[in-house]
Amino acid sequence: MIEMKDLNLSNKRILIRMDLNVPIQNKIITSTERIDKSIPTIKLALKKNAKIIIASHLGRPKNYTYEKKLSLYPVYLYLKKIFPQINITFIKNYLNGFNIKSGTIVLLENVRFNKGEKENCIELSKKYAKLCDIFVMDAFATAHRIESSTYGVCNFVDIACAGPLLSLEIKNLKKILKKPKRPMISIIGGAKVSTKFNLLESLLKITDLMIVGGGIANTFISAYHSIGNSLHEKNFKIQAKKLYASKKIILPIDSRVGKSYSITEPSINKLISEISENEEIMDIGDQSIKNYIKLIKNARTILWNGPLGVFEFPNFRRGTEKISKAIAESTAFSVAGGGDTIAVIDLFQLKNKISYISTGGGAFLQFIENKTLPVLKLLDKFSI
Ligand code: 3PG
Repeated sequence: MIEMKDLNLSNKRILIRMDLNVPIQNKIITSTERIDKSIPTIKLALKKNAKIIIASHLGRPKNYTYEKKLSLYPVYLYLKKIFPQINITFIKNYLNGFNIKSGTIVLLENVRFNKGEKENCIELSKKYAKLCDIFVMDAFATAHRIESSTYGVCNFVDIACAGPLLSLEIKNLKKILKKPKRPMISIIGGAKVSTKFNLLESLLKITDLMIVGGGIANTFISAYHSIGNSLHEKNFKIQAKKLYASKKIILPIDSRVGKSYSITEPSINKLISEISENEEIMDIGDQSIKNYIKLIKNARTILWNGPLGVFEFPNFRRGTEKISKAIAESTAFSVAGGGDTIAVIDLFQLKNKISYISTGGGAFLQFIENKTLPVLKLLDKFSI
């Protein structure tokens, strides 16, 4: 695989696919970690006097329709603050080309506004390829997606290479996979149930115990109990039972519930068996927190992906706060990954207490499962 650091980029148009999919609330970026981890890549490209074109997705726009709240404009403003001396422009309509000078940066609007992006459309991939002389894949966190700007484009460029962040992530994750110290505990939460659920089986093979929260836990619980309006994936009930039979999954025994998904909703602690039809689980409960902390204290390797509840709402934050702090205080080798996980680490200022933080969520889990990612195989075909 060619690495960006080994290429002569002077006066070349390089299209860098980054993962700048950061949480934004009311136009404010609430965690800049993913952008910050991409800054060394931009600095290297500037040092090499490249014409720098940056592409990323943000969120999941419906039917490729423009949504202001999913615009990368706030990311553009942030980049301008980081690089005040550099000419940076933000372009909305770019698929038919534009001019760019060496040593300047163009940030492209959210690639998921482009029709065909998610389906890895050939025509769109060709258009991305035409924008550049060299394609740099640096979006580790989106490297599990076979989409036009992450994968398809590699088929139509003369040179595609790995960016510094992608290389660093792979190097570190390989280290962890080699020989984890036992017991190894995985903590899996979050709302993206369908992406993660299929990966749990392989994860269970390498982990000794799995603690679950969020939509993942709800999906397991829904296979045995009624859980009212809680977020879960109905189609995974059979698979949930099969995985639960491994006896490695520890489910919450109580939870914090509310009647509506709202920041002002008060939280009530209830046993799982007591949840009513009009309630929804939004955090793990007090006893579950205690049980989970006990297990975490005993672990020697911890793999963490996803919050344990709706940590964005202060009333439903306790489970995620206590568990994340227990991970940070543990002497185990801890690896955390995923956009929301990074936001939690930022919120509770635990950055220096986690052994390794990956920018990837689904990609991180998929890499652990397959020891590779689809685009890596494509990148391997290129040589200098
Ligand atoms: C992530 O947040 O995990 C990545 O940015 C990928 O986003 P996606 O799950 O919407 O493809």
